Amino acid sequence: MTTPVTTPTSTDRDGDRDTGRSTTRPSRQWVIGESDPRQIAGIVKASVVPRPIAWVSTRDVAGVGNIAPHSYFMTLADVPPVLGFVSSGRKDTLRNIEATGDFVVNILGDDLVDAMNVTSASFPAAEDEFHWAGLTPEPSESVGAPRVAEAPVAFECRLREVRDYGPAGSPSYLVVGDVVRIRIHERVLEGHHVLPEQLRAVARMGGPATYVRTTDRFDINRPTWDVARETIVLP
Ligand SMILES: Cc1cc2nc3c(=O)[nH]c(=O)nc-3n(C[C@H](O)[C@H](O)[C@H](O)COP(=O)(O)O)c2cc1C
Repeated sequence: MTTPVTTPTSTDRDGDRDTGRSTTRPSRQWVIGESDPRQIAGIVKASVVPRPIAWVSTRDVAGVGNIAPHSYFMTLADVPPVLGFVSSGRKDTLRNIEATGDFVVNILGDDLVDAMNVTSASFPAAEDEFHWAGLTPEPSESVGAPRVAEAPVAFECRLREVRDYGPAGSPSYLVVGDVVRIRIHERVLEGHHVLPEQLRAVARMGGPATYVRTTDRFDINRPTWDVARETIVLP
């Protein structure tokens, strides 16, 4: 059940008392457990945007390659790097990682979007998705999972842990990996800097098929406290 409301919540009022902002902005709210789960999922996916895409490559114990995009994806630590992505349900990617203990997170540019999309189809486990997407599996140096040769960035990861969230019937699994090696194509590098205009990463929006490019960027310098207290003008 959806609960549209136009009155401020207590949180809104607290916020107003603190900030002096108007209480009259109409809003709606959804109470988890009382609202349609599909609506909730759509709202979360459309609001937490843009989501970067982990193009996860694995192999099964027989050596069959697998690739699948995952946009529930994040950096959990940077030194040493730890990456996490979420498998919504038990899929081949998760099964392979649990069986072999490693995976590669490939980052794709906009030239690889069609191939990435192919790898999101529900292939039978025995089918090699590198083959179907016309991609080249390249052996990794530190892990057994192959990387996508065409992808400009590859993070070789060793499985650290899998945690499950969500209801018993349809849990989501957070897959966390320690990055043990990073391989990056020279063409997207200047020294040790990754050039966004060469990387041309893409990200996922809400809805079943909407993406964004990372070609519209801007810089904003972070103020120090000393600068902030001298320059910020409060209303
Ligand atoms: C851009 C994009 C992002 C996706 N993100 C996720 C995700 O975060 N988690 C997930 O479980 N599935 C996600 N999917 C769906 C999987 O890629 C899809 O279920 C795939 O078939 C899983 O493959 P596998 O069974 O070989 O692991 C995404 C699909 C696309 C196209």
